[in-house]
Amino acid sequence: MRIVLGVGGGIAAYKVASLLRLFTEAGHHVTVIPTEAATRFVGTATWEALSGNPVSNSVFDDVHQVNHVRLGHEAELVVIAPATADLLAKAATGQAGDLLTNTLLMAHGPVLFAPAMHTEMWQHAATRANVETLRSRGVAVLEPATGRLTGSDSGPGRLPEPEVIFDAAMALVEGQSDYQLPLAGKTVTISAGGTREPLDPVRFLGNRSSGKQGVALAVAARNAGATVRLLAAHMEVPPPAGVEVVQVETALQLREAALAAAADSDVVIMSAAVADFRPAEVSSTKIKKRDDTADPVITLVRNPDILHELVERRNSSGSAEGEQLIVGFAAETGDSHGDVLAYAEAKLQRKGCDLLVVNHVGADKVFGQDTNSVVILARSGSEPQEASGTKTQVSAAIISRIGFELNHVSPRT
Ligand code: CTP
Repeated sequence: MRIVLGVGGGIAAYKVASLLRLFTEAGHHVTVIPTEAATRFVGTATWEALSGNPVSNSVFDDVHQVNHVRLGHEAELVVIAPATADLLAKAATGQAGDLLTNTLLMAHGPVLFAPAMHTEMWQHAATRANVETLRSRGVAVLEPATGRLTGSDSGPGRLPEPEVIFDAAMALVEGQSDYQLPLAGKTVTISAGGTREPLDPVRFLGNRSSGKQGVALAVAARNAGATVRLLAAHMEVPPPAGVEVVQVETALQLREAALAAAADSDVVIMSAAVADFRPAEVSSTKIKKRDDTADPVITLVRNPDILHELVERRNSSGSAEGEQLIVGFAAETGDSHGDVLAYAEAKLQRKGCDLLVVNHVGADKVFGQDTNSVVILARSGSEPQEASGTKTQVSAAIISRIGFELNHVSPRT
């Protein structure tokens, strides 16, 4: 496919190099048209090298080829990223002062804007009106992501991640003109990894969770357009880019972080392996082996059930009821008293969450592996849904099911 990638003059222009790579690696022919201001952030040499095509931003280069007409006509897709307030205004009012804006007026194919700017600029009445104008003409304008902006400010205005823009662009080409990312505008909190419960300053009780599934879920939710908060207990993999990370260690710390994050989350996914018990006493000094006293016996006390508490709080808060989706995970083994699904069904009812993602665990299954096989149970009673493959594929299936529940299922009771 022939793609025109217009780059606006914003600091996020550097992220568009990754977007360009996604397009070229998928086999597309990309012509990059940076604005004059964009070249002050990322030079034309970068765009030429990464696209393998010459780059210009002037209608007066190669005049004999009438570039703006040719590029506009040939483009099967035009993507503008970062779409600055200035570019949105120019496109909305049909200005044609440079090669990019000329090309936009000549384009026949779908056009996607991926905005990035400071929150005040994005929320300004002028920008709102320009976005409305463009959308009313059938142009797709993504919602910017929420998070840290260039200065010390944060809020809506971050450029969506390159994978998000890529997915939106492909969906647009496939004819989904009203395409909205399934979790656009949603805040999703995901707990991941395994908690560690200290015994003394050097020892802890832990578990074998690697955090891979939680991280894959965070990536899938981010790519679905969500603002993602990752509550990271101990993980063997680094957290992904483009998500807010809250580091926790113990179940009690995770509880505190989860309850705080849930207050303004549309979705909470408890994929962390939370220790059910913690040592009743934590020694402030290292526990020594001694010959004159008996070996220590560790007494455990129960940790609070965070998932259950999240559900209780949501249900008792009235206003949030039906607006927040809570997803639990269950690692189950079957035994002589019942099979995996029967145990999972009972856990779904006990915990009261909306969806329960069930892993069938065995000696070598799940922990630390890159592949997984799950069944998603819904409290609404709909058919159990199976998903298997890499943790990335399984996560995509879980996130897409969550998107479906949010967009199609009526409020929970
Ligand atoms: N969970 C939690 N708080 C805990 C323990 C677990 O929020 N103290 C969450 C996990 O993150 C997971 C779900 O509850 O989403 C299921 O955890 P699991 O340990 O399988 O369930 P339990 O209720 O502990 O049941 P059992 O150990 O009896 O299987």
